[in-house]
Amino acid sequence: MLDAKLQNVLSSLSQTARQLNAPPSGRTAPDATYVKLDTNENPFPLPTIVWQSAIAALERQYLYPEDDNLSLREAAANAYGVATDHVIAGNGSSELLGLIYRAFLTPGDSVAMLSPGFSFNRKLAMLQGAQLLEIRCDESQPLPIEQLLLGCTKAAKFVLLANPNNPTGTFIPVADIERLVAESDRLIVLDEAYVDFAPDCGLRLLSRYPNLLILRTLSKSYAAAGIRVGFGLGHPEVIGRLRNIQNVFNMNVIGHAVGISILAHRAIYEENHRHIRQERERVASALSRLGFSVTPSQANFLLVRVPAGRDGRWWQLALEKQKMLVAFFPDKGLEDCIRVSLGTTTQMDAFLAAVSDICGCPKLEISPAAQQ
Ligand SMILES: Cc1ncc(COP(=O)(O)O)c(C=O)c1O
Repeated sequence: MLDAKLQNVLSSLSQTARQLNAPPSGRTAPDATYVKLDTNENPFPLPTIVWQSAIAALERQYLYPEDDNLSLREAAANAYGVATDHVIAGNGSSELLGLIYRAFLTPGDSVAMLSPGFSFNRKLAMLQGAQLLEIRCDESQPLPIEQLLLGCTKAAKFVLLANPNNPTGTFIPVADIERLVAESDRLIVLDEAYVDFAPDCGLRLLSRYPNLLILRTLSKSYAAAGIRVGFGLGHPEVIGRLRNIQNVFNMNVIGHAVGISILAHRAIYEENHRHIRQERERVASALSRLGFSVTPSQANFLLVRVPAGRDGRWWQLALEKQKMLVAFFPDKGLEDCIRVSLGTTTQMDAFLAAVSDICGCPKLEISPAAQQ
């Protein structure tokens, strides 16, 4: 009887929702004894002044958050040097990605992205009944502009570029992105989730090209992944259409307060960005010495090809036994890779010690900072 009822309920799902199985519910979350290096977070504590803004926001817990995220959008407009109507605020930039897919795609449409790319886009395209055209681009290749403009991608409703890219960490020169945006009459979504760890950004292109939409997030370089704050920056006509279809009260009062405070105190985070860049160099050279091949990264993570003989999944499991969480992607071409987020010196020392232990090598020299 119960089964028949359930079958009846499930048969009413839309065809798209039916394609996805319910996620497993019994998974246990890793506790604090694990070193979490699998989702590119940034373990930097909230500066006291930002913390105080969060506490103060709790006094307004009985009120709905500000309509249309106005003060937060004003703060972002101020920080990024654009007018407020050029800004949309989201519950993380992933909410904004979802809005873009909903706004531009109907079943049968297509969207183009470089591959390997941020895999969440596959799910978003699928939910719209759209096709994600993944254009292969290895780390050593330049941006395949012709391929993105012509051929099978010509009909794509928009092109998505993550710069630096996830999961590779590679960076496309802004001049190449400008060529693509200038030569295309379609929307180019430039996802700059990791840009504060990179040498340049695309902000200066915004005033010149109405077909450019830039995404930013406070999750990575501002160490606020759990607070969920992201921004879209673009032409008011495009931004306005996205705001139209956004959920009411999509953010909360703490997200507003912390977002505004972080944007006002961005200089505090420069030391953290410098630290991540330094760890990037140090961990990359240690891994190279251990026989890993490291993709040059401009982000807060490294994509590394593991030494011959084992694949990425094996390494992920071996590291998990040592309470180290890293990412593995079963995609073609990435089977021999793992992706490792860059964290504190203590975390990275523990990671390198676990790797050398698994390799059967004597422990690498511990960094001076961790010995104190
Ligand atoms: C390329 C890229 N874009 C967007 C996001 C989403 O970030 P958030 O929703 O936390 O802003 C991520 C997260 O890993 C990412 O790697």
